[in-house]
Amino acid sequence: MKLSDLQTKIVGLDEEVMLLDGSKRRYVNFDNASSTPTLLPVQQKVDEFCKWYSNVHRGTGFKSQISSWVFEEARHIIAEFVGADEKSSVIFCKNTTEAINKLAARFRCPAAGEDKPIILTTIMEHHSNELPWRKIGEVIHAELNPDGTINIADFDEKLEKYRGKIQLVAVTGASNVTGYINPVHDLARKVHGIGAQIVVDAAQLAPHRPIDVKPSDDPEHLDYVAFSAHKMYAPYGIGVLVTTKNIFKIGAPQHVGGGTVDIVSLENVYWKDLPDREEAGTPDIIGVVALAKVILLINEIGFKSIIDHEAKLTSHALERLSKMPEVILYGDPDPEKAQTRLGVISLNIKDVDHALVAAILSYEGGIGVRNGCFCAHPYVKRLLGVSREDAKRVEGYILARDRSKIPGTIRVSFGLYNSKEEIDHLCDMIKMIIEKKYKGKYLLNKERGEYNPEGFRMDFPSVFTL
Ligand SMILES: Cc1ncc(COP(=O)(O)O)c(C=O)c1O
Repeated sequence: MKLSDLQTKIVGLDEEVMLLDGSKRRYVNFDNASSTPTLLPVQQKVDEFCKWYSNVHRGTGFKSQISSWVFEEARHIIAEFVGADEKSSVIFCKNTTEAINKLAARFRCPAAGEDKPIILTTIMEHHSNELPWRKIGEVIHAELNPDGTINIADFDEKLEKYRGKIQLVAVTGASNVTGYINPVHDLARKVHGIGAQIVVDAAQLAPHRPIDVKPSDDPEHLDYVAFSAHKMYAPYGIGVLVTTKNIFKIGAPQHVGGGTVDIVSLENVYWKDLPDREEAGTPDIIGVVALAKVILLINEIGFKSIIDHEAKLTSHALERLSKMPEVILYGDPDPEKAQTRLGVISLNIKDVDHALVAAILSYEGGIGVRNGCFCAHPYVKRLLGVSREDAKRVEGYILARDRSKIPGTIRVSFGLYNSKEEIDHLCDMIKMIIEKKYKGKYLLNKERGEYNPEGFRMDFPSVFTL
């Protein structure tokens, strides 16, 4: 199978959406960094499996046995996908956020009077790789370079300064704001050099680049990796935590109940081994099938073709956008370097509110982007150069239910199925916005921080009802 065979097999690819002028247009989805649409072969595999669906692990019936078999086969496929050996465990969770919280729950919150563990992270992180760490320790941050990349010299300095105190380094594999890819194996080597461990938030990396956790005796190995299937064309509610360490084997699991135990008496409980002990209750078996199927598809077409295609799109978009002096690009604007980053581009149009741009793109162009801070507030504020005083002022507005002054950008993010024509349409729309040629009169809803065109409402029930 080739990439081109998959590019047309996106569920809903040709769906049209209604525009402000009453016409319809094929939807352009540039919000892949949030969630990707479903690949048709994934949906078909899920449908096929539904005929055999039953709960896993606990039944002798054919359907229960085949479901259990499929579930564990899928686990192997996922382990292989990230290069995890038999000493590692693939633990199924809901998503990256749950996976990181699960890991954080293992790093014990210190008792009163005890020193808190230090977690070194970066300013680039998504909140899902920042907030869980605040619950269990003192979080310190590696600084950024002026271009928004991680300042490695500062990272090294902090690693050395807090040697012996840092338990864990939490870093994103790739940014969901600028698409920068971090040198996680280099960082891992340094982290292991001071006796700490590393967790990589691979939510953005997994759909676009190969992941290799490497054997646990390799200094560059990744101790923990988390990612989500809904960003990989398999949005059926599954995420993964790959752990190469056995900290999950100590004490009681985070969630206890069915599936986690070998024996329970009224006095005692004997916990199962990994991964069962960390997968309380009935797992998302359908989600697991979907993730395994998409991984098999990616293996078949190969990451190289995905990288090449997405780099071409990124390069084309940067080339066109950088020719418009009114467009501000955040992150590396160089089209030549598209291979070294993800197809995630953050931008603003000078003197036009990001929320207004997003609304016009949707209502008049049928284009789905995302705007705001993308759950990476500290990073976006840094990229925008928002001062502490301004940030504080905006906090005040938000607390007073006025979200209209939230700083932010427009984020355009590509998937393996997007096309140059779609990028051209986006760039034409941006030009039209710059020239103030849009048709609607947009009203700001301050409480929501959203713009909506006067006299127009999207008619959802005409296209979908439950
Ligand atoms: C870098 C990064 N980390 C974590 C997450 C959270 O992923 P999820 O919503 O699947 O838990 C996201 C989602 O956008 C992300 O981009």
